[in-house]
Amino acid sequence: ARDPVRVLVTGAAGQIGYAIVPMVARGVMLGPDQPVILHMLDIEPAAEALKGVKMELIDAAFPLLKGIIATTDVVEACMGVNIAVMVGGFPRKEGMERKDVMSRNVSIYKAQASALEKHAAPDCKVLVVANPANTNALILKEFAPSIPQKHITCLTRLDHNRALGQISQRLDVEVSDVKNVIIWGNHSSTQYPDVNHATVKTSSGEKPVRELVADDKWLNGDFITTVQQRGAAIIKARKLSSALSAASAACDHIRDWVLGTPKGTWVSMGVYSDGSYGIPPGLIYSFPVTCEKGKWSIVQGLKIDEFSRGKMDATAKELMEEKSLAYSCLN
Ligand code: NAI
Repeated sequence: ARDPVRVLVTGAAGQIGYAIVPMVARGVMLGPDQPVILHMLDIEPAAEALKGVKMELIDAAFPLLKGIIATTDVVEACMGVNIAVMVGGFPRKEGMERKDVMSRNVSIYKAQASALEKHAAPDCKVLVVANPANTNALILKEFAPSIPQKHITCLTRLDHNRALGQISQRLDVEVSDVKNVIIWGNHSSTQYPDVNHATVKTSSGEKPVRELVADDKWLNGDFITTVQQRGAAIIKARKLSSALSAASAACDHIRDWVLGTPKGTWVSMGVYSDGSYGIPPGLIYSFPVTCEKGKWSIVQGLKIDEFSRGKMDATAKELMEEKSLAYSCLN
């Protein structure tokens, strides 16, 4: 039998936490043959609720779930973890300045980075979900210098999946037949959902999405804004943020990273820029990536037109501003 993998979920008593822990325990994240031990962290005000989640995990009798740690102690939570899904954070509340929210999250990610640095397994892979996701991931790296850069990522797979979903709805085709959309940049409303390389599997072979949709006005307009603003639309409808789809996307992100992307298919991940596509190094930026044997690499050589260039640079600019705001909070 395989050794269990230790999966940390921070903010585990929250909405995404409640949606993701059963997915992890069922093998959605690491496959149906991989036993797991769940490490769940939350803060004192949520300690009772976290106990409740643990009770439900016991009651669900998941065969793959070999242990549950539910704690408000960050050191205990990080001990020996192989995968860290960072969902906990400080949400923006009405009337709060951007800088105040940033400053709260910077201090959370600084503390948690130090705990991961000291106590996580040496091969630990990190996925930051909590917003501002790209910048929280940068701060985490800053305070966890021994975790390799390539092991620190942030979630833009939800945006990627939303783009696939919009194309599938528009063309009335199965979502599994649509592939190779790209989310460039920040997980924010400046992200750029790009369909220039996306294809659909049809009975007469793979066809470009642009050719099948045949409506550039929609593709360059409403399609982009719908994906960019989908999170707000869900909040409006549900009065709560998107938790089910975020949890599912986080599982997709880790699964593809660990087990590999299918041949000929790429996905979007927020990763360290190495300067590819002229994006400044030192930012965590969403790129198209393929994964193999636990390693991601940025897809190279895609043609970038002028429209795309402008949007890719605009979201990079926002990330640079976020980065300087975050670093100013450190001082
Ligand atoms: P939520 O408010 O329901 O849950 C957050 C949980 O984090 C709460 O239980 C809270 O007690 C906990 N928490 C706060 N500070 C903590 C700390 N220092 N350590 C550990 N836990 C802590 O929020 P929800 O809906 O689960 O969303 C979580 C985060 O994910 C938010 O920042 C949200 O903006 C972000 N998000 C990101 C998405 C993405 O695609 N990257 C998509 C959807 C949400």
